[in-house]
Amino acid sequence: MPSFITIGELARRTGVKTSAIRFYEEKGLLQALRSPGNQRRFLRSDIRRVSFILIAQKLGLPLAEIERELSALPQGRTPGVEDWARISRSMRDAIEAKIAMLERTRDRLDGCIGCGCLSLAKCHLYNAEDLHGGEGPGPRLVLSDA
Ligand code: FES
Repeated sequence: MPSFITIGELARRTGVKTSAIRFYEEKGLLQALRSPGNQRRFLRSDIRRVSFILIAQKLGLPLAEIERELSALPQGRTPGVEDWARISRSMRDAIEAKIAMLERTRDRLDGCIGCGCLSLAKCHLYNAEDLHGGEGPGPRLVLSDA
């Protein structure tokens, strides 16, 4: 027997404003059922769905990608371990790329980032004559995974 919660309970537990929950609903990221009094009712498992949205947003994933991932989940029933495992596999590459970029940022932010400014003594070692500028725009030593 599924357990239902109100939009207020969903907002309280996730820390997401009710207006944002209604926005997610409009976008099809989650689906509310209606009580006999026409009030929104969510599956308790929607706490996990909204939590996933929060995590994905913190990771900087675009809304379109979050929508695409969540569209693989069943609506109207509690997703199971296999449903979440499928999403997890699908997102693994994007998460690994984020981790790698965060590590490069952590390791390089006080040194040459390959942006073309050549303003640090280290630039002449790591980006002599703006060699990395030929790979594309921006701070190549942080943005590029090569
Ligand atoms: S920090 Fe800009 S090229 Fe080195």
